[in-house]
Amino acid sequence: MSINFISVTVTCMSKETLRQIESNVPKAWIPSLDSPIKRANNAEVWDQDGKRYLDYVGGYAVLNTGHVHPKVIKRVQNQLKDFTHSCFAYAPHQNAIDLCSEINIRYPINGDTKTFLVNSGAEAVENAIKIARYYSGKQHIIAFKGGFHGRTYMAMGLTGKENPYKKGFGPFPDFISHTEFPYHYRGLTDEKALELLQENITKVNNSNIAAILMEIQLGEGGYIPASKDFLKKVRKIADDNNILLIFDEVQTGYGRTGQMFGANTVGVTPDMATLAKGIGGGFPLAAVVGRSEIMDSIHDAGIGSTFGASPVSCAAALGVLEVFDQDNLLQKAINHAELMNGMLSLLQDKNDFIGDVRGYGTMIGVEIVTDKKLKNSSKELAMQIIDTAKNNGLLLVNCGLEGNVIRFMGPLTTPVDQVKEAMEIFSDSVNSI
Ligand SMILES: Cc1ncc(COP(=O)(O)O)c(C=O)c1O
Repeated sequence: MSINFISVTVTCMSKETLRQIESNVPKAWIPSLDSPIKRANNAEVWDQDGKRYLDYVGGYAVLNTGHVHPKVIKRVQNQLKDFTHSCFAYAPHQNAIDLCSEINIRYPINGDTKTFLVNSGAEAVENAIKIARYYSGKQHIIAFKGGFHGRTYMAMGLTGKENPYKKGFGPFPDFISHTEFPYHYRGLTDEKALELLQENITKVNNSNIAAILMEIQLGEGGYIPASKDFLKKVRKIADDNNILLIFDEVQTGYGRTGQMFGANTVGVTPDMATLAKGIGGGFPLAAVVGRSEIMDSIHDAGIGSTFGASPVSCAAALGVLEVFDQDNLLQKAINHAELMNGMLSLLQDKNDFIGDVRGYGTMIGVEIVTDKKLKNSSKELAMQIIDTAKNNGLLLVNCGLEGNVIRFMGPLTTPVDQVKEAMEIFSDSVNSI
C-alpha cells in the first residue's frame, strides 16, 4: 500500500487559536496538536482545518473502543433521557450496580470481589491505598521506579518518574519507597529486580508494609513489560511477607494487553486493582476492584465520591463491555498486535536507531536510540519521528524516563486497513529521518 502524504509542511495552529489558548490556559497545559479537534469517528480524527489523522494517542489510551462508538453513544443517549446525576451513596442506580457486577465477574481475583467507582485513575489509586492501609493496619507502600500513578499527592508520591510529574511539587506523603522495575533491554534482569525488592522489604521492615503497587507494563515509564515469571515471583514475595499486591491497570486494562486485563495476560492475580481510561469509552470513570474481605473492611461512609459512578459514565461503560462481548474485540486486539509487531520488527531490522520493540498486546513501545550498539537514548530522534508522523496524518506520543520511547495507543476497534495505514505512515516517517 502506498501512502499519499497530504503535506510534508508543518500545519501550524492558527495564530488566533494559539493566542486564545495562550491567554486562557496555563503554559504547562498547552496542547501538542496543531489545531483543535473538530470531530472524530473510531480511529479517525479531523481538526478544525479539516486535516485527518489516525489517532494512535487515543485520548491517552482511553479510546479502546474508538471515538463515539455507536453502542456507547446509544447507551449514553438513553441515560440522558432519564437523569444525569445521582450521588450513588445516597440514591443508587442500576447502571452502577450492573457495572460493578460486571467488573467483579470479569476481573481475575481469587474469591469474591467488590468494586468501588470513582472518577479518575489517580482517584482510584488514592482509594486503593486508603483501603489497603485500612485493611492491613500497616502504612508503607512499595512502588516502582518509572511507574506512573497520577497527579494527586499520594499518586504523585507513588509515581517513580520525577520529571515532569513530581519536579517542584514536594513534599510528598511519607511511608513510600521505590524499587527497580526490570528492564531487560538495559540489562536490569528479573533476578536483580527481585533481589532489590527483597532488600527494600527488609530495609523498610516487612511488618509495616501494607502493599506493593505496580503496573504490569510501565506506561508513562516507557512501555516496559514485566515478565510473567517476574510477576509470579512478586506475588509470592507479597504472600510470604503478608503484603497486599495491587495492580495499577489504568493503562493495561480493557484489552490493551491482548486479554481483558493485564492480569489475564500474565496469569497473576492481585488482591486489588485500579482501572480507568478505557473503561468509560471516553467518559470519566475509574474503579477499584478487590477481594471482598478487603473492600468490606472500611467503616460506613469511609470511602465515597460525589461524581464517582456517574450514571452517564456507567451507561457508557456498559456500552464498552457490550462492544467487547459482541464485536470480538479481544481477537481484534490480538490480530492488531500481530500485524503491528510484524511491521515494526521489519522496521527494526532495517534501522539502526530502533533499539527495541516490545510490549504486551497492542501496548507496543518502540525505543529510539542513537545506534543499536551504544543504545544511547535519543529523545530528539523520537520527537522527530513523532512530528513527521503527525504531519503525515498519524498521531503518536512518547514516553519513558528519557522520553525516547514511541508508544501506540490506538483503538482496538480500528479497521485492519487503517492499522496497516498507520504502520505505513510510521515506517515512512522513520525511513525519512
Ligand atoms: C498506570 C496509570 N495509573 C494512573 C494514571 C492516572 O490516571 P488519571 O489521569 O485518570 O488520573 C495513569 C494515567 O496515565 C496511568 O497510566
